[in-house]
Amino acid sequence: DIVTMDKIVALCKRRGFIFPSSEIYGGVGSTYDYGHYGVLLKTNVKSEWWRAMLQQRDDVVAIDSAIIQSPRVWEASGHLAGFSDPLVQCLGECKRRWRLDHLQEAAVENGEDPALVRCPTCGGELSEPRAFNLMFETTVGPVRDAGATVYLRPETAQGIFINFKNVLQFARRKPPFGIAQVGKSFRNEITPGNFIFRTREFEQMEMEFFVPPDDAPRWFAHWLSERERWYHELGIRPDHLRLRAHDQDELSHYSSGTSDVEYLFPIGWSELEGIANRGEFDLNAHRTASGEKLEYMDPGTGERYTPHVIEPAAGADRATLAFLVDAYDEEEVEGDTRTVLRLHPRLAPVKVAVMPLLKKGGHPELAREIFADLRVRMQGEYDEGGSIGKRYRRQDEIGTPWGVTIDHQSIEDQTVTLRDRDSLEQVRIAIDDLAPELERRLKA
Ligand code: GAP
Repeated sequence: DIVTMDKIVALCKRRGFIFPSSEIYGGVGSTYDYGHYGVLLKTNVKSEWWRAMLQQRDDVVAIDSAIIQSPRVWEASGHLAGFSDPLVQCLGECKRRWRLDHLQEAAVENGEDPALVRCPTCGGELSEPRAFNLMFETTVGPVRDAGATVYLRPETAQGIFINFKNVLQFARRKPPFGIAQVGKSFRNEITPGNFIFRTREFEQMEMEFFVPPDDAPRWFAHWLSERERWYHELGIRPDHLRLRAHDQDELSHYSSGTSDVEYLFPIGWSELEGIANRGEFDLNAHRTASGEKLEYMDPGTGERYTPHVIEPAAGADRATLAFLVDAYDEEEVEGDTRTVLRLHPRLAPVKVAVMPLLKKGGHPELAREIFADLRVRMQGEYDEGGSIGKRYRRQDEIGTPWGVTIDHQSIEDQTVTLRDRDSLEQVRIAIDDLAPELERRLKA
C-alpha cells in the first residue's frame, strides 16, 4: 500500500524537512523551503548521484554552469520557440487556467473522450489552446529594453553542451565520456502541484554522455540499466519502480528515443527521471548558431564526427519525494502506532542518535564523549530532551537508522545499547567497537 501525499506533507512539516515558503506572508503557491533534515536528505540524494557518476566511474567529469546564460543558447536549443505547454482557460465561472495535455491524459485514463474535456473545477467550457512558453524572463543591467532580456535556465543540460569544447580541451576527454551537472532550474509551470513533485523552481541532476554515433543504442541501454540500479541500490522497492518507453508522439523535439524511470507515487505512476537519446541534435544546433566546431577528431584515424548524446536527467526534489514516499511506514508496536522512515542509511539525514538515558549519574558526560568521537565520522545527533521513548519516536520519524543509549551499566562496563530502527533489535556493544561497527554498517 502507498502512503497518501497528505501524510508525507504532514510529516515533512512536523519534523522540519520541507514546508511551504513565505508562510508568514500567506505563502506563495507551490513553493517550498527545505528545513534542516530536508537539506540533509536532499544533500545525500545529490551526493549519492555524484558518487555514482564521478567516484565510481572514470568517464564522467563535473561542471557547474551559470543559471543566466546568453539568450542565444535558448534560441539555438529550441527552447525559445518550442519549450511551451498548451494553455487553456476556463470560459465559465472560475476562469482557471489548465494544461490541455494534462486534462486530456486524465480523460483518457478515466475512459472519457479527450476531445470533450471541460474545466475540472466548475465544468465550464475551455478556450482554444495557446502555446505558453515556460521560461522565466528577467533583464540584466539598468535598462529594461528588449536587448536586456535573459532567461533563467529551464534545464541544466544546455550549460553542458555549450561547454563541450572546454571539456574536450581542458579535461582531455574523448568519447565515450560524460559531463555531469547538479543545479537549480526554473519553469513557469501552469499547473505546479503535488507537493515537491512539480514546482517552478527545482534542482536537476543531469548528465550528458557523448558517444560515437554507432554506439548510441548500446549506451542508451547501458544508462537505462545503470539508473534503474541506482534507485534499487538506494532501497527503492523494485515493484514501485519501472521503465517506460515513450511513444513516438510523446518524444521531445530533440529526442529519437526516451524512456522514463517511473515511480509509483501517491498520485499514481509518474516520471521520476527521463533518459533520452538526443542524437546529435544539441551539438549541431549550437554549432550552427555559434559557428564553433563542436565535434571530435579521432587523433588515430583523423576522422571527424559529431558525437551523439545519451542523457539521464533526474530531479533532486522529485527523487527526494520518491525516497520519502518509499520509506514511509506505520506499524503497531505494543499497542501504539509507530511512524518510521525506513530510509537507506546513506540517505538518512542523521545516521546515529546518541542519547543518555538520564540527565544525571554521569550519563550525559559519557554520551557527549561518545558523540564527539562519532560525529567526526558521520552525521550524528546528541539528544537528551524528553523521555527515551519520545526521543526514539522522533528519531524514527526522521529516519535515523541507529540509536545509542548510555545508561548506568555504561558507566560500569563501558558498553552501550545499540538500537536498530527497522528491526527494533537492541544489542549491547562495547564503546570501543561502536564507531567501527557503525562505519561498517554504513558502507554495507
Ligand atoms: N534536459 C532534459 C530535461 O530537462 P525533463 O524530463 O524536462 O528533461 C528532467 O526533466 C527531470 O527533472 C524530470 O524527470 C524531473 O525529475 C525533474 N523535473 C522537471 N520539471 C520539474 C518540475 N517542474 N518540478 C520538479 N522536478 C522537475
